[in-house]
Amino acid sequence: MTENSNKNAIVATVTSGKGGVGKTFFTVNLAASLAAKGRKVLVVDCDLGLANVDIMLGIHPRLTLRDILFGSAPAEDVILSTKAGFDLLPACSGVREMAQPLLEKIQTVKTLLQSLEGYDVMLLDTGAGIAETVLQFNLLAPRNIIVLNRELTSITDSYAMMKVMHQIFGRDTFSLVVNAVADEREGERIFHHVDGICRRFLGFGTDYLGLIFRDEAVPKSILRQEPLVLAGPGSKTAACFDRIADAVCRWGTPLPRVEPPPGPERCARGILH
Ligand SMILES: Nc1ncnc2c1ncn2[C@@H]1O[C@H](COP(=O)(O)OP(=O)(O)OP(=O)(O)O)[C@@H](O)[C@H]1O
Ligand SMILES: [Mg+2]
Repeated sequence: MTENSNKNAIVATVTSGKGGVGKTFFTVNLAASLAAKGRKVLVVDCDLGLANVDIMLGIHPRLTLRDILFGSAPAEDVILSTKAGFDLLPACSGVREMAQPLLEKIQTVKTLLQSLEGYDVMLLDTGAGIAETVLQFNLLAPRNIIVLNRELTSITDSYAMMKVMHQIFGRDTFSLVVNAVADEREGERIFHHVDGICRRFLGFGTDYLGLIFRDEAVPKSILRQEPLVLAGPGSKTAACFDRIADAVCRWGTPLPRVEPPPGPERCARGILH
């Protein structure tokens, strides 16, 4: 998103290879941390068909992205302010047409985000994996934050996600967040492992955005539908988000160019070749 009215906004997806690694938890808490630092933040729930951000916040949206894409709702009627200090563009759950949206609808989301003014940061929480929809959402943002954890499948699937994004779209700017670690050493070890594989087999290095500790307060905060950084602002885990929020603020501008939509050659090749 370059030529837009919000060209100074930091725009990033929060994505992963394997599912269930903490993307939505991370997005909500990073957004709350950034908002607490005075940044105007928009979270966009791009997990179309299985939306979760509203659930983590205990919100019941009347209108969702679906009403913009398939109806005529204006964005300002759909975007909600949350108790966590950031705005949310919610998606909906259990609607098949939203789970497999046409690529043109994703371009509509791009145009919509370009038209929104006044945000310092936009975080797009995607679904997991290398399905076409997820890849296309990742292309909307110049920065892709990959969340992973210590599980072997999470590590290999993170690599697969970066490989596909690199081989098809030429992406080589990924920021890694290692979630649910026991200590700093574990976070660094997992980062260096994945980073080393990328350097060796893909020819580029990754950025270490940071780690989040494994914390039993996380599932409790999700059950209470309250961001952990608000419930326990002095906790070790909240400090992780504080550090990552500072790093995100340092990203600043200008934004790199976004790749054009896929051409016919790519469609013919399919995404896995
Ligand atoms: N740092 C952590 N410590 C403890 N538990 C965690 C941590 N991060 C995430 N979890 C647990 O992992 C579960 C999944 O988190 P979340 O829903 O954010 O994952 P996700 O990657 O968004 O999943 P999906 O791929 O389905 O969208 C949460 O319910 C939470 O209990
Ligand atoms: Mg999620």
